[in-house]
Amino acid sequence: MTRLTKSISEHLADHPLAGLIQVPAVIHGLPRLSSYLGHEIYVLRDDLTGFGLGGNKTRKLDFLFGDALARGATTAATIKATSFSRNAAAAASACGLDLHVVLPGTEASRNPLSQAVFARWGTRLHYEDRGMEALPDRLESVVASLRNQDEHVYVLHPGGSDSIGALSYVRVLGEICEFSERTGVHFPYMVHSTSSAGTQAGLVVGQSIAGYETRVIGISASRSVSDQREQVRELAVSTDRLLGTVTDPEKIIVDDGFVGPGYAEASKEGEMAAQTFAKMEGILLDPIYTGKAAAALLEYCANNKFGSGPVLFIHTGGNAGLYY
Ligand SMILES: Cc1ncc(COP(=O)(O)O)c(C=O)c1O
Repeated sequence: MTRLTKSISEHLADHPLAGLIQVPAVIHGLPRLSSYLGHEIYVLRDDLTGFGLGGNKTRKLDFLFGDALARGATTAATIKATSFSRNAAAAASACGLDLHVVLPGTEASRNPLSQAVFARWGTRLHYEDRGMEALPDRLESVVASLRNQDEHVYVLHPGGSDSIGALSYVRVLGEICEFSERTGVHFPYMVHSTSSAGTQAGLVVGQSIAGYETRVIGISASRSVSDQREQVRELAVSTDRLLGTVTDPEKIIVDDGFVGPGYAEASKEGEMAAQTFAKMEGILLDPIYTGKAAAALLEYCANNKFGSGPVLFIHTGGNAGLYY
């Protein structure tokens, strides 16, 4: 084990994993895209984590369900029908836990394909039609009733972005260190999509533990730079508290120039970037997260915003969103 990776694994040693995913991450060059952009680009394939349709959520769930099992949970619960809930459904099955998900709307208003996939995983769905704001209250009452039935309930933060979930991207930074030490390829820039903040908080905490010199650039899926930086900072602070580390908030770099029409709405630039990745490298991106991050990557290259050295594009998954 290399020196940098060792310092990260020592910090993570007390946090159990459910053992869901294949690690280390696959990292490879993108020769055709690099030659087109005139800049060396690599990709970290967290779309290929090998479990439950992949993505950054399966990374987080490996730590979250590891924690749930260590605490003796029998059931897990969360809100919304995002990729996180779908990945959580797969993870709960593999861990032998029940999963309850509170969804906005009514049964009739939901995408039938999504319902069918939840049904296959045996997920218990609860519908709440009083609007998004009512979801946390409804979750609380579902959890209370489960506890009355003597279930030991583990509540999953939406998006898996609490300090336990963020540990997964501390670990990813360790895998990047290992790759750099093995191959001699160092990444002075990393680009990825940021939203509920777990991915970026984990990366910057990992970067500070390992002393890996890089600029981790989070491309916001919705919030302004100041709101997103604050979200990432708060989560980095709680992750630091868990690990006994200190992360410099100046390391948190966010760009909100690629949100397009808004959260969960495709942008023209994101669609074009997704098409470029697909046509040049055969890699699929989703329009809401990774497509917009790729739009930033392309624009930074076109306008020489990166200095010298290879750029690592972190593919955070989300391909299921292309289908349902
Ligand atoms: C595919 C994909 N990429 C990136 C993100 C953003 O990651 P995070 O929520 O950890 O900031 C999400 C969040 O939903 C996602 O689904």
